[in-house]
Amino acid sequence: MTSRVVIRSAVGDDADGVAAVRRAVYSYKVMSPAATRHMITVSAPKERFLALVAESGGELVAWGSAGLNIWTSEPGQSHTSIYVHPDHRKQGIGSALADRLHQHLSEVGAVRTRAFVHPDGLEFARNLGYDGTRQMHYAGVDPRALPDQPPTPDGIELVTMDQLDPRQAYTADSIASLDEPGDSPIDSIDYDRWVEEIWNGPAVDKSLSVAALAGDEVACFTAVETDSDRAWSGMTGTIPSYRGRGLAKLVKSVALRRCAEAGITAAYTSNDDENGPMLAINNWLGYRRVQTELGLLRPLGS
Ligand SMILES: CC(C)(COP(=O)(O)OP(=O)(O)OC[C@H]1O[C@@H](n2cnc3c(N)ncnc32)[C@H](O)[C@@H]1OP(=O)(O)O)[C@@H](O)C(=O)NCCC(=O)NCCS
Repeated sequence: MTSRVVIRSAVGDDADGVAAVRRAVYSYKVMSPAATRHMITVSAPKERFLALVAESGGELVAWGSAGLNIWTSEPGQSHTSIYVHPDHRKQGIGSALADRLHQHLSEVGAVRTRAFVHPDGLEFARNLGYDGTRQMHYAGVDPRALPDQPPTPDGIELVTMDQLDPRQAYTADSIASLDEPGDSPIDSIDYDRWVEEIWNGPAVDKSLSVAALAGDEVACFTAVETDSDRAWSGMTGTIPSYRGRGLAKLVKSVALRRCAEAGITAAYTSNDDENGPMLAINNWLGYRRVQTELGLLRPLGS
């Protein structure tokens, strides 16, 4: 790494620079500067989140973060994320960030970390000890061109999420998340953390997010995050007793229409290759694949 490059802890005021690098690397992983600031500044103490940035000649050119996975009951699970602006690669910045992050994770008791990489980053990741075969598909749709909206079944009321009590939304999210494919089960979502990080965070636009209510119970919901004219699907979930009735298709149809009315021209999502139902729903909505990333794991020493 050249002497012009400085690695330091990220601070809230880096949000615009981090969001710009993120957009240059992943046009489809939508995260607004406000949500980026929240990610840098708000995390659970037990996550031991470390966020780093690299500057070259005073310009922010890379991001690296790592923390313990606090949404699972499996001990020692963690996540790592590194991205370097395309104009600043092959200078050792990614490796320097990885060294710092792996060391931090080992110090805070992680036994394994997970990262997603572009196919062109596979060799870099393998050289750092990552391996695995999971695939994550990213896809996008223009919400101004959607199939006809399905009818709303009897007994179901559609509401925007700003009309919900957080407990209602939390219950549906935590139950549906149990069945989301992944390396570790999402089975330990603490309500207060969820409120602070998700419900009260700036990422989700509750006026565009839609829930299907059966009485007082959220049967199905879809959470929308935005950054000016782009949107991201935060999470779509149907509680098990209401699955297979077209509710996820319906709430996403309604939410994407609301996005189009709000000026969104591209909506993106990510789905694990094993998530047959969600891939079927998104294919039906007209999502087209823009990227596949590889989900990799790396053991960590103590
Ligand atoms: C994915 C999920 C939201 C679907 O909810 P749902 O309300 O049952 O979905 P719908 O009834 O609207 O549509 C399901 C579609 O998947 C299809 N499907 C169901 N199982 C499938 C499978 N194993 N493989 C392929 N398609 C499948 C259904 O046939 C249906 O498509 P069709 O109408 O064209 O026939 C729900 O299963 C869930 O909450 N899963 C756990 C959370 C999760 O993974 N969320 C997505 C995170 S990216």
